[in-house]
Amino acid sequence: MALVPYEEGAGWGARQLHSPWASYRFASHTIRLKQDWRRLGVAAVVWDAAVVLCTYLEIGGIDLRDQSVIELGAGTGLLGIVATLLALKSSSGELLIHILLYHLGAHVTITDRAAALEFLESNVQANLPSEVRPRAVVKELTWGKDLGNFPPGAFDFILGADIVYLEETFTELLQTLEHLCSEQTVILLSCRIRYERDHRFLKMLRGHFSVYEVHYDPSKDVRIYKAQRGSHKVDF
Ligand SMILES: C[S@@+](CC[C@H](N)C(=O)[O-])C[C@H]1O[C@@H](n2cnc3c(N)ncnc32)[C@H](O)[C@@H]1O
Repeated sequence: MALVPYEEGAGWGARQLHSPWASYRFASHTIRLKQDWRRLGVAAVVWDAAVVLCTYLEIGGIDLRDQSVIELGAGTGLLGIVATLLALKSSSGELLIHILLYHLGAHVTITDRAAALEFLESNVQANLPSEVRPRAVVKELTWGKDLGNFPPGAFDFILGADIVYLEETFTELLQTLEHLCSEQTVILLSCRIRYERDHRFLKMLRGHFSVYEVHYDPSKDVRIYKAQRGSHKVDF
């Protein structure tokens, strides 16, 4: 599994990646995630980009209620878990858990490559209250592969945190976004731009979507890009 390079033993950031657990507080819940860098590499640690996008969704008040959401390259699942919790929040801040919940389909689809799925699933199971779990499904999605397993244009939001880093996947990632997107779909990608090739992906993205930088977190050097088909205005 390809790695996002960092130096072993290079201070707090590296220690954080090697820690077996990472804890966060979002949507009035403590989320405690297993990490296992040595076994699964990049897919089994929480990246800053996920934390920044979770904060943006919550603080920015992005309304995910009754929205169909898919996360690509979910890794430990932090973003998908937070999106599921936010999708069920009522305006009073309480979780809206009603009797119909069990009869409604999953609203958040949390995806990654096959090798990462078992680990991802265990974090999702451990962090969603049992009554909320039916709202999230963990599913394999390797970019560009078997896209027929996902209905075209069926999602209101496509989320991705730190998934722009492997040039050999750029074409397939773009193809996946194209497949999943309708005219109304909002794509939110949080990225740390590390290399020139990351700019190349953004250029490819701009060839197919209207792309805007909607947030920059200077403390983590993470940017959030919003992309939509056509020439939609930025309204958040
Ligand atoms: C840097 S990690 C980010 C994980 C998580 N989103 C986060 O921010 O904590 C990149 C993720 O993309 C996934 N990934 C890489 N190539 C992929 C591909 N071709 N198809 C699907 N997922 C892929 C990896 O398995 C990994 O979970």
